[in-house]
Amino acid sequence: MHYLHDYQTPAYLIDTVNLVFDLNEKYTIVTAKLYLYANPIIPIHQRHSDLVLNGELLELLSIELDGKLLEKIQFQKTEKSLTILQVPEAFFLEIRTRIRPQENTALSGLYQSNGNFCTQCEAQGFRRITYFLDRPDVMARFTVTIIADKERYPVLLSNGNLVSHQKLPEGKQIVIWEDPFKKPCYLFALVAGHLDCAEDFFVTQSGRQVTLRIYVEKGNLPKCAHAMQAIKKAMRWDEEKFGREYDLDIYMIVAVSDFNSGAMENKGLNIFNTQYILADPATATDMDYIHIESVIAHEYCHNWTGNRITCRDWFQLSLKEGLTIFRDQNFTADTTSPVVARIHDVVGLRNSQFPEDAGPLAHPVRPECYVEINNFYTSTVYNKGAEVIRMQQIILGDVLFRKGMDLYFARHDGQAVTIEEFVKAMEDVSDVDLKQFRLWYSQAGTPVLDIVDDYDATKKTYTLTIKQSCPATPQQPAKKPFHIPIKIGLLDSSGKEIIHDFLQLKSPEEKFTFNSIASKPIPSLLRGFSAPVKINYAYADSDLQILFKYDTDLFNRWEAGQRYTVKLILNLIQDFRAGISLQLPTDYSSIFKFLLETMQDKDKWLLAEMLTLPSEKYLAEQMKIIDVDAIHFVREFVLTELALQLQIVFLEIYEKNHDKKSIIKFDNKFDTHEMGQRQLKNICLMYLMILNNKLYFSMGLNQFNNALLSNMTDTMAALRCLVNIENPEREKVLAQFYQQWQNDALVVDKWFALQATATSPDTLSRVKQLLKHPAFDIKNPNKVYALIGAFGQRNPVRFHTDTGEGYQFLADCVLQLDALNPQIAARMVTPLSEWQRYDKKRQHLMRDQLEMIMRQKNISHNVSELVNKSLV
Ligand code: BES
Ligand code: ZN
Repeated sequence: MHYLHDYQTPAYLIDTVNLVFDLNEKYTIVTAKLYLYANPIIPIHQRHSDLVLNGELLELLSIELDGKLLEKIQFQKTEKSLTILQVPEAFFLEIRTRIRPQENTALSGLYQSNGNFCTQCEAQGFRRITYFLDRPDVMARFTVTIIADKERYPVLLSNGNLVSHQKLPEGKQIVIWEDPFKKPCYLFALVAGHLDCAEDFFVTQSGRQVTLRIYVEKGNLPKCAHAMQAIKKAMRWDEEKFGREYDLDIYMIVAVSDFNSGAMENKGLNIFNTQYILADPATATDMDYIHIESVIAHEYCHNWTGNRITCRDWFQLSLKEGLTIFRDQNFTADTTSPVVARIHDVVGLRNSQFPEDAGPLAHPVRPECYVEINNFYTSTVYNKGAEVIRMQQIILGDVLFRKGMDLYFARHDGQAVTIEEFVKAMEDVSDVDLKQFRLWYSQAGTPVLDIVDDYDATKKTYTLTIKQSCPATPQQPAKKPFHIPIKIGLLDSSGKEIIHDFLQLKSPEEKFTFNSIASKPIPSLLRGFSAPVKINYAYADSDLQILFKYDTDLFNRWEAGQRYTVKLILNLIQDFRAGISLQLPTDYSSIFKFLLETMQDKDKWLLAEMLTLPSEKYLAEQMKIIDVDAIHFVREFVLTELALQLQIVFLEIYEKNHDKKSIIKFDNKFDTHEMGQRQLKNICLMYLMILNNKLYFSMGLNQFNNALLSNMTDTMAALRCLVNIENPEREKVLAQFYQQWQNDALVVDKWFALQATATSPDTLSRVKQLLKHPAFDIKNPNKVYALIGAFGQRNPVRFHTDTGEGYQFLADCVLQLDALNPQIAARMVTPLSEWQRYDKKRQHLMRDQLEMIMRQKNISHNVSELVNKSLV
């Protein structure tokens, strides 16, 4: 276990690193020449004269200190470290090691993907490349030499600038890259292989020309245009919004097929999962287009928030990740639809962070301890971390917040710092005391606000009484009150806004009184989701109807609809369980009717969001004991009833917005208006197809057939509906889809995920069959996420069948994966960790599987940490 309070400044620092990679077919020889010196901050009498380096799975060949070969007695080697005894104050160390990238299935360190070499070093992969001080507060200047066969590996890349390139005898070549910026080793990258390259350029605000290159596997060049646009868009946006300019003369992105996460911000040489680069209208959906832009913006933004200013230690991970998520979310809001972007962010938070915060894996945004740092790249560190930044922006206001960012950049450029330094910068530019606010970083759990109101008709005053509490989380039984920014509005009974205000709750309970209020108002609470909390307020249906129709805060309009639906579905679930026949109140469908009539010519994308019911996952969150079957049944019932009552309007909107030719002409400019149109008509199609009648079925089938070659958004929308209907066409369309796209790995992933999330009873046996499908590859993370991950995380009804077969299946997969790639295995475990939320029978079945995993010998730290925590 590693503890935050154990942090110690490094005893030695590294000034320069000179790496030579000799890449071969069976192994790679790495020669590392380091110039090290004792950290001057540490007083001489406290200094330890042994140097301890990290290293894993390395075959040590030789060590030289200041040019002299070391004898066996001058160093000690363990499985995870190399200690050089009695080192001088400053010295050169040359270490030669042999590694085997071709055998690396963990995809951490140097490995191969489709025959090309690439690296992933964050968080602790560099120690699998060479012995080093593998910690983010050791920052050094890197020079990298790569030697490889010219035929097999024509492209040789590393961070920074290419300074030399020469032919060598025996068909080899040698290149040298130099990175002028100091960096921690987790930002090191190397790529070697057969790659095509798209090139463009960007002129920065100060007039420097930056070369942009995207490298892809052969044949993928036509799918790079959108990513290239996105880079330029992100670069311009960061200049305009944050005054941040790019700092090297070249910015490279390499897209690889085998990658544990989405993308990585290595200095000047980002490495991406192909999923977040490759796109054309025929193979990528509109949402894929949006995600590509946001991941590119994210990694680009890291250049300042992460690379120029990095983390002191991994407990500070949210310093760079929470902040950079905040930045990429702002990018997406500014470049698409602010309200829809906010809705997506909040849905994401509620579907993954809230459950995490309510379960055995709950931890603060700045964790206090960990066994395996890779288990802490969580929704809490990322998404709640972003919300915590956003709250500081709300509390300070936009102008001061920007000043705070500027101060943070100016003060800490080139340093490895803590979250404390960030908050301090915010305090220093404002007169705001953020002492209490800091609890958001140290206390886990989602705060709950219980709100009651009181209208005094004689005094014309309206009072909101807000009480805050936060449930116990592991190691934190009692919480101190948070500093919570609450944006609100008050509407009169006709829906007109009377007041908008900004409240700051700091005590366990506070009263806020508003004067001169003519009649009892309807409160619009937590506008824009101004804090990551849950709100209990006894809204009447009629209040929610008014808010849904008229709130000027568009986010809260959407939110009112979600609340109304949650309330309704929870009531229907009770009826369902009591055996009462279900009935949809007409009041409910009438607000949708109003919506469809008044909004279809306005923001179509927002309208589509407002027509989307809360997910099964979010509904589950509202139940003490989750009843997956009831949730699914009732949600389907509501969809079907809405479809029955509104089918004429749905059909009309569908036809008005459907392009029969299914042609998308982007001209390399992605158009969010047209996309909104597609989202809208596709949700109408979903409603119609749920009615399971011939007419609508053939409508869906037509859309599928027309779109299959040209428009993946429409293809997937139709296919998703077709697959969930018991019909002989089902197998035909799936086969047709596969037939068409079998050579496109990313599309095949969609095909796997679609089947893994199908609601039909045979889904599990199908998933098991698909594991044996020739296109499935358990060593490829995208395939694992698409089939196993999607089944465990996005198919509640089939995963939680009360026979326990879903659990058993997942646990078996975890074990199989763990032997190959522990990081991916660990990411598959989480659905089982939520066992406490289910009925007794399922609890037992889930625990059985967790215990079965625990009994295995040789399971990784990654998996055992999560399973251990889940079992307490
Ligand atoms: N620094 C991370 C990459 C990373 C993730 C390294 C996990 C080590 C472990 C990168 O900046 C990142 O956060 N990537 C995200 C995508 C992003 C848009 C949220 C990812 O890979 O999921
Ligand atoms: Zn990141």
